[in-house]
Amino acid sequence: MKLFSVIGMLTVGFCGCQARVEPPEFTSSAEIESLPAELKPEARKVLRQHAGTFASPVLVTNDGSTSSSTLKLGQAIYQERCVQCHGVSGDGNGPVANQMYPRPRDYRKGVYKFTSTPYGSKPVRADLVRTVMKGIRGTSMPSFKLLPPQEIEAVVDYVLVLTHRGELEEQIAVLADFDEEVDPELFEEESLPLIKQLWAQAAGSQVVPLSPQPVFTRGHVSRGKEAFLSKGCSKCHGEDGRGQNAENLAGSFKDRWGNVTRAADLTAGMLHGGQRPIDVYRRIYSGINGTPMPGFASAFQQEPETLWDLVAYVLHVTNTRRMGIGHLPGPISPYVPETPESGDAAE
Ligand code: HEC
Ligand code: HEC
Repeated sequence: MKLFSVIGMLTVGFCGCQARVEPPEFTSSAEIESLPAELKPEARKVLRQHAGTFASPVLVTNDGSTSSSTLKLGQAIYQERCVQCHGVSGDGNGPVANQMYPRPRDYRKGVYKFTSTPYGSKPVRADLVRTVMKGIRGTSMPSFKLLPPQEIEAVVDYVLVLTHRGELEEQIAVLADFDEEVDPELFEEESLPLIKQLWAQAAGSQVVPLSPQPVFTRGHVSRGKEAFLSKGCSKCHGEDGRGQNAENLAGSFKDRWGNVTRAADLTAGMLHGGQRPIDVYRRIYSGINGTPMPGFASAFQQEPETLWDLVAYVLHVTNTRRMGIGHLPGPISPYVPETPESGDAAE
């Protein structure tokens, strides 16, 4: 190994040149690839026209405030730090992705799990920034909090380039398949405005709790446990929250990306969607996009306090394991957090 690299350096030194590396290029989705041969060139052309190429990426939702140099900076960071998992086109198929559970996100469906918005909505920009800053605990998604803020912002812009490109790709494939032709005007008049509208809508729709966060007491925890058992949570997560029930272990749950997923082991001390009460609240209230975790917004409209009870219970069971106590079946011990975090204020 060492010898090779020394020889490599010498060769570079001698001829002053390096092996030519082909620049990467975006690939097309399976849906575009499976269009009839006569439609493919036009489909790719429309895609290039609106979402650019690797050499000159375009942000579909750009309102003019994101410069092409920001996109190039975002791309450079992405190619250095994200591509091995998320792939050049953002398809979640980077060279090291295969061994991972959960798999790296395929951005192209435009679906994000850890959002502050209602079920089925796009994330707000701050959600993506937060994921990149904090990483996703308990998964291979690392935290990038040491990157300077402008680099985080730029790489998020680039994630959005890939996301919108994927969303447009999906629309092109569906419409081309349906109409048996590729009509560029249709994309300008319908697809692009739709993508822009869905992302703009999300911006004003962050979930605000139905009732203010209480200071948690053991009462909240035990009411939360009751609700957990009676409102259907335990059907998927198991009675003790560990997800050890047969259906879950059989791997019969699939996510939007076609991968097997499991109801989270809530006791593992590794809440993927964040540890703050507001994070857990939003997971329960809004569900988790693209996964079988349903939203319970309407189920608890009439009893908003139950949502906080469930949050207290989830935080209680997650902490027992993290503190090395192991999950004890039977009655729950008292739980009063020392410093109750106050929801959005901590953001
Ligand atoms: C070592 C592999 C790895 C690297 C490197 C990596 N990610 Fe991820 N990323 C993941 C995995 C795995 C997930 C999916 C976690 C899940 O589904 O719970 C993910 C998910 C995401 C999500 C989706 C969050 C959501 O709400 O659905 C975003 C956005 C993201 N990564 C951005 C990035 C960016 C930007 C970089 C580079 C700065 C990066 N990732 C580098 C593995 C990685
Ligand atoms: C139909 C099955 C199902 C039901 C019912 C269900 N969950 Fe889930 N839940 C899941 C799955 C699957 C995930 C993991 C999603 C993922 O990240 O892939 C999950 C994830 C979660 C998370 C996020 C954990 C994290 O890592 O951040 C919380 C919190 C949660 N569930 C709480 C509840 C509560 C409370 C209830 C009842 C009110 C409930 N769930 C009902 C399937 C279910």
